Amino acid sequence: MVQTTPFLLVLFLALGAHSLSTEKCILTGIWVNDLGSNMTIKTMTANGDFTGIYLTAVSATMKKIEASPLQGSQHLPNPGLSQPTFGFTIHWSFSDSITVFTGQCFVDDDGKEILKTMWLLRSHMDNIKNDWKATLVGYNEFKRLEEQ
Ligand code: BTN
Repeated sequence: MVQTTPFLLVLFLALGAHSLSTEKCILTGIWVNDLGSNMTIKTMTANGDFTGIYLTAVSATMKKIEASPLQGSQHLPNPGLSQPTFGFTIHWSFSDSITVFTGQCFVDDDGKEILKTMWLLRSHMDNIKNDWKATLVGYNEFKRLEEQ
């Protein structure tokens, strides 16, 4: 009893400290992905809906790239959910395509926020016969753009 009490106290403090130090991943802000694309998530409503602007570094088209609006939704952070899942749609303003992203906002082992995502890019086809080649799928990782 004399020995188990300090042990339980240390265990309790360690577990308590860990749960207190669980950091939140917050979607609002400026992000850059592994392709060099920039994303700014500007507004976040109380129910987790958000809007932003996406400036892609690459395109499947030959058109001049322009910043494009995005709309999305995330699960709300709460004491048990500090690394929320989310999804958003980009309505490309310079092409006829649409991209949908889905992902999760994580805090990595170094305490840095990172967005792990997958996407579908739907291109416009002039003929239904080309539908089979209309959708690309891929993976992007986003890191928060640190203030210079
Ligand atoms: C288009 O080519 O019609 C629009 C631009 C698509 C850019 C894609 S979306 C998925 C991938 N991730 C990026 O940051 N850019 C490309």
